[in-house]
Amino acid sequence: MENKWVLPLALSLFITVLSLAAAAKPVLPPVFIFGDSTADVGTNNFLPASKARADFPPNGIDFPGTSKPTGRFSNGLNSADFLARYFGYKRSPSPFLSLKTTSLQKKKFNGINFASGGSGLLDTTGQTMLTLMKFGTGNIPFGASFKNQKKFISLTEQIQQFSSVKNNLTALMGSVATEKFLKDSLIFISTGSNDLFGYYHSKSSIPKEKFLSSLEVAYENHLKTLYNLGARKFGIISIAPIGCCPSQRIFNATGGCLEELNDNAIAFHSRLDALLCKLSSEYKGMKYSLGNSYEMTINVIQNPLPFNFTQVAAACCGTGKLNAENFCKRGANLCLNRDQYLFWDRFHPTQAASKLAAIALYSGGPQFVSPINFSQLAKA
Ligand SMILES: *[C@@H]1O[C@H](CO)[C@@H](O)[C@H](O)[C@H]1NC(C)=O
Ligand SMILES: *[C@@H]1O[C@H](CO)[C@@H](O)[C@H](O)[C@H]1NC(C)=O
Ligand SMILES: *[C@@H]1O[C@H](CO)[C@@H](O)[C@H](O)[C@H]1NC(C)=O
Ligand SMILES: *[C@@H]1O[C@H](CO)[C@@H](O)[C@H](O)[C@H]1NC(C)=O
Repeated sequence: MENKWVLPLALSLFITVLSLAAAAKPVLPPVFIFGDSTADVGTNNFLPASKARADFPPNGIDFPGTSKPTGRFSNGLNSADFLARYFGYKRSPSPFLSLKTTSLQKKKFNGINFASGGSGLLDTTGQTMLTLMKFGTGNIPFGASFKNQKKFISLTEQIQQFSSVKNNLTALMGSVATEKFLKDSLIFISTGSNDLFGYYHSKSSIPKEKFLSSLEVAYENHLKTLYNLGARKFGIISIAPIGCCPSQRIFNATGGCLEELNDNAIAFHSRLDALLCKLSSEYKGMKYSLGNSYEMTINVIQNPLPFNFTQVAAACCGTGKLNAENFCKRGANLCLNRDQYLFWDRFHPTQAASKLAAIALYSGGPQFVSPINFSQLAKA
């Protein structure tokens, strides 16, 4: 019969078309993430001396699939994960420190997360911060000596790691392809809170304007370094109303937010806005999107019910006043309705809050993200 081969041929054509369709799926933009614990997905798990860590339960109790701690300061995913999700990934790319020598050669290599809890814009920030805030007390054996070991990866070092990745990529695929890869990449940076905490709690004698100006200069230098390495698309996440963290409210007799910390977060956002506008006019091809974490979070705090939050002052996991006198760890109080809490621990948002933030960044209007939102940045 002549028709004998028709069906198999049609079938195989169909399969070819299907696999072509799969191969032709839109290419996802590579994603590189920098910053502090708000974006850390396990970097500090690789630093035995780090006290800013979350690789123990009940952290991760709602982590998809496993309910296990990962190093994220969250009951599940964090904002870095949700952002990556909106761009088509399952979650944030893996921490740089977890990479194997073959990781970059994988065809599907599409980003790295460098963020490290405790770091800030200034190289000096984490050191004072960690002692001042008594980060994660009780997880490090008493008397353990880690004098010369790293407690976190500073932003300067994170960018050095990015530079080393660029060298590896160049060796693998040549400089032209690497340049294009980096030009199309999204660079997310979420940092600055630890600098403001350090300044406030050290009762520094440096005048406020001078300190904020030093943070701005540091940001400018970090951005210029990234630009010179070939990065072009910057998604910048500014500082949330950190005076409203449970850990800070306990310093206010009324349980209200610490106004000075919030004022500094607002003032820094204005400076960052002006800085990015200036840089993008000076540096050819630079594109950016600035997320206003202050606006998006204060909105939820002042009017929580439409967002399905019933608790925006106390932490879900912790002990003492507002569950904020100590870090979230085994044996701490744990709320049941975790999706109704804005804060997971004394400093960090819940998975539900992180998701909201990522939605605002990805598709929000100019009140929350400007001059364009993150989805527009990817297409820019
Ligand atoms: C990058 O290259 C250096 C030097 O050749 C090598 O030691 C390192 O393992 C490479 N890193 C990755 C992630 O491929
Ligand atoms: C404490 O909170 C109240 C609101 O409850 C606020 O008016 C006050 O300024 C806050 N105090 C400080 C030191 O920020
Ligand atoms: C709040 O919860 C309701 C009912 O579960 C849901 O339909 C709505 O989308 C939620 N709103 C937000 C902002 O998540
Ligand atoms: C932001 O993102 C969405 C797409 O995700 C776009 O349609 C929308 O116009 C943008 N919103 C604003 C107000 O810029």
